[in-house]
Amino acid sequence: MASIGTPTQRGCSGAVAGDREAITRLIQLQGDDPAALIEVLHQLQQIEGYLAARSLHQVARQLRLPLSRVYGVASFYHLFRRTPPPVHCCAVCLGTACFVNGALELLAVLELRLAQQARAGGWVLERMGCLGACGSGPVLRLDQGLAIRVRLAPAPKLDAQLEAIGLPPLGRATAR
Ligand code: FES
Repeated sequence: MASIGTPTQRGCSGAVAGDREAITRLIQLQGDDPAALIEVLHQLQQIEGYLAARSLHQVARQLRLPLSRVYGVASFYHLFRRTPPPVHCCAVCLGTACFVNGALELLAVLELRLAQQARAGGWVLERMGCLGACGSGPVLRLDQGLAIRVRLAPAPKLDAQLEAIGLPPLGRATAR
């Protein structure tokens, strides 16, 4: 993962973390009210994808609150992210139908394939419950897209299939 507080770090929304004017407007909409801290942090995260250190400093200044209080609230609630979200997410369904059709085998292949990208902060691999496409299992989902059927096959064929649906090529730490 990239370090927090980088002023040009983009969140999932595409917004730039540390956009001072956007944060100023956001807090003004809450009436510059210190009691609106949680709401401000919630909206800030929706805009920037996470709570960057630089943004928390501005929130503290503008709401006239101690920085320790702002950090305390941002750290206390587990729904607040303090690090940038991954650029892409690959989720494998481990529901019953997918499980019996080889979801664990697919997961193992993807763990190896995405390990390098995960370290670079580009991809994260998740496990999911039923995606509602049980007749096609095993299935995965890329970002917020629809379930995609994967046909388990020997390595070269499976690699080509995974690349065709949008996963990064083997051995390259690049986001798609
Ligand atoms: S069990 Fe995987 S889609 Fe339903």
